[in-house]
Amino acid sequence: MRNRVYIDNIFRHEIADGTEVTLKGWLYNKRSSGKLVFLLLRDGTGTIQCTVYKPTVGDDMFGVADKIAQESSFTITGNIHKDERAPGGYEIQVSRVELIHQAVDYPITPKEHGPEFLMDNRHLWLRSKNQHAIMRIRHTVIKAIRDFFDGRGFTLVDTPIFTPAACEGTTTLFETEYFDSKAYLAQSGQLYAEAGAMALGKVYCFGPTFRAEKSKTRRHLTEFWMVEPEVAFNDLYDNMELAEDFLEYIVQTVLRERAQELNILERDTSKLANVKAPFPRVHYEEAVKIIRESGLPFESGNDFGAPDEAAISAKYDRPVIVHHYPAAVKAFYMKRDPNEPDKALAMDILAPEGYGEIVGGSQREDDYDTLLQRIKEHDLPPEAFDWYLDLRRYGSVPHAGFGLGVERTVTWICGIQHLREAIPFPRMIHRLKP
Ligand code: 4AD
Ligand code: MG
Repeated sequence: MRNRVYIDNIFRHEIADGTEVTLKGWLYNKRSSGKLVFLLLRDGTGTIQCTVYKPTVGDDMFGVADKIAQESSFTITGNIHKDERAPGGYEIQVSRVELIHQAVDYPITPKEHGPEFLMDNRHLWLRSKNQHAIMRIRHTVIKAIRDFFDGRGFTLVDTPIFTPAACEGTTTLFETEYFDSKAYLAQSGQLYAEAGAMALGKVYCFGPTFRAEKSKTRRHLTEFWMVEPEVAFNDLYDNMELAEDFLEYIVQTVLRERAQELNILERDTSKLANVKAPFPRVHYEEAVKIIRESGLPFESGNDFGAPDEAAISAKYDRPVIVHHYPAAVKAFYMKRDPNEPDKALAMDILAPEGYGEIVGGSQREDDYDTLLQRIKEHDLPPEAFDWYLDLRRYGSVPHAGFGLGVERTVTWICGIQHLREAIPFPRMIHRLKP
């Protein structure tokens, strides 16, 4: 159909007022009064009001329009009409309506539904306005991630999902059969990204990662997307600088390109506007003091829980970097600070407003003997890591990197409550469907 257009072509003033156009989509909502039916058409790029006037279209076609049910698909032809009263400032004055498929008893009605019902109907829930906004913001976050690294000369190195060993601890490993042996789903692409950095200097991997998170929290998925840059010759402080520039770039890009979506989600964007480097940097022991001052009991040496992280971030108006965590609570590959041997050259970034950790990273252990010893201390099988140890055998250099969780980032930027809405089809301990 030659004059077929999309709704956003109209809202972006790409088509002159009065032009006859054809639109295809689904019924979002409907309202009628006497000789008029207002069809709210959505086509994936937006929603527009289509006004069907009985004397114009005739009784038969008016009857068709009047009976179109929520989420039915149809084609509409009519003239674009600028009208201040219409949502978005434009409506279509309809000359023709053709039903493509009538939907019967669409389960998600404009009334309130509980989260379990909506999650069971996730494949349909994605058709709702707030979900469109979240998915578009996710899209922009992912594009910003790629643009940032591509613009700085990083090379994308795709890392495997079937792996022979753990990266982030053995308690959250998903095990699967692999012909005559076992494989584990990747918890992180980092170890392979390190090999990539030794080959190409600065690299990133970006893909789905898997963790058998048995706790049911708002912050944990079993399948989530993570981007992990890795840079040869970077130390902990270079790593922090890269991470804060990166986060600033993502948030400022979303603010610029997704103002409408943030508005639909009623996000307080003043909080996001503050996300500018440099971020405050807090040593672990100082963070412990902040937690205690807030009234929470906390024993130094432990890892932070969600309330602890919230207490730390409450002190700042932008993301905060916590560094020098106790080595005992962190992964085997992290280098320790020679001046504080019980601390790892680690850093996490905590998002504001109680959203908690969104970035985790470190400088890596680059000494062969020390790394081998750590692998043994963590009860990991050294033979699964012989290739990884090679990176310390042939031209080992200081290097560092981090991982940013896409869903945690999207949840925070959108200001929503639960990670499950930040990914099209979430996977959690009790959720494998749809
Ligand atoms: O802190 P983590 O475990 O770090 C790593 O995996 C490192 N290998 C990264 C690196 O240095 N290359 O995870 C990094 C980030 C977290 O900060 C969080 O944003 C996200 O991944 N994340 C999760 N997101 C959703 N659900 C889960 N279960 C997550 N676990 C971690
Ligand atoms: Mg972490």
